[in-house]
Amino acid sequence: MQLELTETQALIQRTARELADRAVRPVAAALDREARFPSELVAELAELGLLGVNVRAELGGAEAGTVAYSLAMMEIAKACASTAVTMAVTNMVAEVIQRFGTEAQHEHVRRITSGEHLTGAFALSEPGAGSDPGAMLTTAREVDGGYVIDGQKQWITNGAYAGVFVVWARTGGPGPRGLSCFLVEKGAAGLSVGAPEDKHGLRASSTVPLTFDGTFVPKSALLGELGGGFKIAMMALDGGRIGIASQAIGIAEEALACAVRYAQDRRQFGQPIGNFQAIQWMLADSRAELDAARLLTLRAASEKEAGLPFSQHASMAKVFATEAANRVCNRAVQVHGGYGYTREFPVERLLRDVRVTTLYEGTSQIQRVVIARELLR
Ligand code: CAA
Repeated sequence: MQLELTETQALIQRTARELADRAVRPVAAALDREARFPSELVAELAELGLLGVNVRAELGGAEAGTVAYSLAMMEIAKACASTAVTMAVTNMVAEVIQRFGTEAQHEHVRRITSGEHLTGAFALSEPGAGSDPGAMLTTAREVDGGYVIDGQKQWITNGAYAGVFVVWARTGGPGPRGLSCFLVEKGAAGLSVGAPEDKHGLRASSTVPLTFDGTFVPKSALLGELGGGFKIAMMALDGGRIGIASQAIGIAEEALACAVRYAQDRRQFGQPIGNFQAIQWMLADSRAELDAARLLTLRAASEKEAGLPFSQHASMAKVFATEAANRVCNRAVQVHGGYGYTREFPVERLLRDVRVTTLYEGTSQIQRVVIARELLR
């Protein structure tokens, strides 16, 4: 068993940390307050290879693997969770097109890694199909030369800033086996982007509904095989869940660091509150849980990188890391007392930002379904 990072992994981690410290953390509170999408930061991520960490160099990626990707996500998420989810979904889109795309479709990966596309979006969920994407209603009807897509998508991260959308639609019968996957470019006729969601956290990330009203795509827009869309979504989400586990760990690491500093600075009863066991136990539980989350997440990442089955381990990492991260952020606010409930201290934002991590890319309940199915198989 090897726990040290390789040179490449350490380099990517350092690169992400430097960007986070120099450019991301200083603006995170303002981005949150103004609900402003971090376009300039996303351009910097592209420049540093962080929009395609696990993408081949010939497609403009860093070709550094999934462990490096996880480490980079943690560093960016420490500084700004909104920027981190923008990065996570864009990496997921780049990877899914790299894996299932034709040579012509790979051009979209190049445009993502070069920053030309700004971001990519993953359009799976619908108003009536969240945990159960196999029940989606969007259709792609075959016509001369291609398909016509009609339907609505919901909760689309990066939707207002994406150059390319990976879109799932029904081309066959009911259930998951009737779905196919298409690449749709920004500005396609009949594609409209709805109003941004007014969210509890991640206020600087873009989350919008999409409407497809007779959107024509050529045959060459089909990603993978006709009817093979559901498996593509599941495989992409297996990897995506490592990204969200990493994001949650990053947010919670920042919260724990804030709590430790506060416990050392804040004095009550004539001494720093960190002298009290009540505070120490909260900090200790947080440290232990975060290390466990990190090990689970990096295990899943290294299995993915080695080409081993990793679906169950990715779900274990996601459910444990995101639930632990919620506890850690909650404790961090507790350590801060009333001050932690105000915008004067970053833990207020961190607690709002971490909340969604047990919801998106599969709720905690869905992760447990995936874990249990594997156990009982
Ligand atoms: N890898 C490859 N294939 C898989 C797979 C995987 N991980 N999981 C399932 N499949 C295959 C099955 O083997 C099956 O194949 P066959 O047709 O050959 O038998 C097929 O897919 C259908 O599988 P199931 O019958 O298991 O499908 P199901 O409808 O019961 O769904 C589920 C299983 C795990 C509950 C799945 O629906 C799921 O993961 N739901 C959650 C969806 C989700 O995570 N949404 C997140 C939205 S994206 C997002 O949040 C991004 C963002 O913006 C941040």
